[in-house]
Order: sequence, then structure tokens, then C-alpha cells
Amino acid sequence: MTERMRTHDDEHIPVMAKEVLNLLRLKPGGIYVDATVGMGGHAQAILERIQPGGLLIGIDRDKESLEKAHVRLKAFAGSLRTFHDNYKNLPLILNNLAIRPVDGILVDLGVSSYQLTSPERGFSFQSEAVLDMRMDRSQQWNAADLVNNASEAELANIIYRYGEERLSRRIAAAMVQEREKAPITRCSQLASIINRIFKVRGHQGIHPATKTFQALRIAVNEELQGLEEFLSEAFGFVKTGGRIAVIAFHSLEDRIVKRTFRKLAGQCICDAPPELCKCPRQALGLLITPRPITPGPEELSANPRARSARLRSIEKL
Ligand SMILES: C[S@@+](CC[C@H](N)C(=O)[O-])C[C@H]1O[C@@H](n2cnc3c(N)ncnc32)[C@H](O)[C@@H]1O
Repeated sequence: MTERMRTHDDEHIPVMAKEVLNLLRLKPGGIYVDATVGMGGHAQAILERIQPGGLLIGIDRDKESLEKAHVRLKAFAGSLRTFHDNYKNLPLILNNLAIRPVDGILVDLGVSSYQLTSPERGFSFQSEAVLDMRMDRSQQWNAADLVNNASEAELANIIYRYGEERLSRRIAAAMVQEREKAPITRCSQLASIINRIFKVRGHQGIHPATKTFQALRIAVNEELQGLEEFLSEAFGFVKTGGRIAVIAFHSLEDRIVKRTFRKLAGQCICDAPPELCKCPRQALGLLITPRPITPGPEELSANPRARSARLRSIEKL
């Protein structure tokens, strides 16, 4: 990673940038998509390598991040088209631009460090802010709406499924008990409700609220819904020999990416014994990363937030 990629103010350090650039085999004049442009870290590196004549289509559902990316990428304005949108609308965006096919697509999933560390965005259990967690602030409902209106069973399911939290039922019950006294509106308020449960039970390791906050964030932003369909559709827009690269930050996301890529590569995705497997075996793509790429020790010491990242790629046949 170059110093240039690191030094912006409140910037998000692009994860596994070198590996992403190698996988995408960027070439001058190529057309690429950054489906989660965020603060423009990967986008900058891509834009530098597709000159002259290249085009990058950048999408993000977070308007503030996109505005920051514009400032960072202003030297490349002529080679960049950005869209404040959900990446699930990529087919519509490309059809409207009459662009097909593209040379490669990057999807760097999850939240950026800008979102996580901006107290007013309400993602962090360390913040006093309103429990918000919306990546797209034009969305009608936020984490506080979810926490105060979902049933106890719904909350327990969300915390269990998306947070893989063992104490999901106990936490959901405590949330419901508390909200009966007064609405839960602040990140710190929710964090202390969770803290109390863990204090009683004893706790070691990560902050007790980590898993619940992750679960609520995934639910509020519907991060897993439609990911498989999006990746399959996006693959249809890649030219022969072009690649999709995806970085996932938790196992639930990574499992979907792995399964979708295996399916596109004509591999088995079921648990049945081989003689009973009925998976379609038509290979549309070649798995470039049969096992995910993970950050090396040097990157981890410079950017500990990269520790859970898993990078996978598939090439169109
Ligand atoms: C990990 S950050 C990307 C960072 C970026 N690669 C960089 O180097 O600065 C993930 C970004 O994806 C965006 N995002 C997440 N889900 C999205 C979706 N469904 N559609 C569009 N953007 C999304 C988030 O708003 C966030 O800015």
C-alpha cells in the first residue's frame, strides 16, 4: 500500500488494496465498477491505473461518503461517474448508461471506518449519539425504530442470526424490559443495557455490545438480503476474462459470496453426498480464489480493522 493511500484526514484505509488491484488486472481504457466507493480509497487506486481513457462507475448508498470521495477524486472527475444508490440497482445504472459489458467489478462490503467512527452516525457502542446506523440517511427507519418497535422474538432472532450472539434471548428480553420504562434512543443506553447482562454473567474478550451492534446494523441496512442475487446479476455484466472481486467482513457475508461464486463456477453447493447432488454444474466462471485471500501481517499492524476481511474473486469464462 502506498503512503498516498493512507494519509487523507478521516479516510478509510482501503483493505487489501494491492491484492484487489492485482485481481482486477486493471488496464488503461478499461471500464470498471466500484459498487461501494465509500471514501474513494480503492477508487483512487483504480482510477490511477485505468488512465488514459478509462471509466470508473462508483456507487454508494451513503451520500456523505460519496461527497468525501468526490473531493478526494477530483483530479479524476473526467473518468468517474458516481451514483448515490444501492448497488443492487447496478443493472439499472449500467443499462441507463448503455454500458455493457464492464472489465471488472469491486464490492467492498460492510461499513467504512468513517461511518463507524463518526459519532453522529450512531454505529458505535462507544458513542452518545442517537441509535441510528443507517448507511443511507434518506432511509425512513433507523436502529432506534427497530429496537423500540420489533417484538422480543424478532429482536432475539436478529441478534442471534446476524450477531451470532449466544445471549440473544436474554439481551432481547432486557431491551424490551427497558423500553417499557422509556424508549431506547442512544447508543450508550443500549450498550449499558447489554453491559449489565454480561457483568452478571462474567465476560472476556471483545466488548459485550459488539455482536448486538453488528446484528442491528446488518438488519437496519438489510446487508445480507439480495446479496446473492446482486452478485449473480452483476456477473452477467462482466465481459469474458473480466473479474468480480468481493471483500467480506463477517462470516455470514463471506458464506454468501463463497456460495454464489461456487454456483457460478458450476461447483456443488449442497450438503448431499456426491451421488445424490443435483447442483447445476454449468460453469460460467472460474474461481480465482478457491480459498479467500486475507490481509498479511504488515497490513494488519497498520490497519487492525482489516483483521476479519476475506477477499474472493471469480473470472467470467
Ligand atoms: C468498506 S466501505 C468501502 C470503502 C472503500 N472501498 C474505500 O476504499 O474507501 C463500504 C461502503 O459500502 C457502502 N455500502 C454498503 N452497502 C451498500 C449497498 N447495498 N449499496 C451501496 N453502497 C453500500 C457503505 O455505505 C460504505 O461506504
